[in-house]
Amino acid sequence: MHSTTPARVVVLLSGGGSTLAALLRAHAEPDSPFQIVAAIADVDAPGLDHARRAGVPTAVVRLRDHPDRAAWDAQLASTVGGFDPALVVLAGFMRLVGPAMLEAFGGRMINTHPALLPSFPGAHGVRDALAHGVKVTGASVIEVDAGVDTGRILAQRAVEVLDDDTEASLHERIKQIEQPMLVDVVRHLTSPTPPAEGDPL
Ligand code: GAR
Repeated sequence: MHSTTPARVVVLLSGGGSTLAALLRAHAEPDSPFQIVAAIADVDAPGLDHARRAGVPTAVVRLRDHPDRAAWDAQLASTVGGFDPALVVLAGFMRLVGPAMLEAFGGRMINTHPALLPSFPGAHGVRDALAHGVKVTGASVIEVDAGVDTGRILAQRAVEVLDDDTEASLHERIKQIEQPMLVDVVRHLTSPTPPAEGDPL
């Protein structure tokens, strides 16, 4: 049993939110080391419904409601910061975060990407891998830095590309290995450090 309060996690997303749903299922498990305290999108993402159904607060911070990217980035950092997260997870968030987000959450912000980085970074990892004709692709969980999917790699899993794969079929199989991997990384990063041998009880 956990004696400590579960670590606060904020999830950022832009799309359908099956990754958020996987994280919400893990957060609902008994003794989860983390709790999702907010889901925040940059558009009216349908995936926010997963959070609403789970009673998790949501917010939308739209780029177009701000005079420029810097103002949007600052507002995003402020909105995320309002939920006091220990960890920020980009789960299908399709926009680059800027200096304000990196300043506030650098070192405790991770991203999941549907390719084996450093191959096929960017917004179309599945499509680009398929177009290149690779026989194996996969998913990566990385730390977020200022580059496009250039942060330190925390975990990777591979998926075979089938001859008749489409972008949709391949992405679906990638998600099946990507989501448990991301949940494992989030659990690991939020688990209380076990006391070292010899530590006073
Ligand atoms: C995930 O496969 C994630 O890796 C990808 O978007 C999907 C989100 O799916 N992210 C990127 O491509 C970021 N470059 P979902 O909306 O069903 O959670």
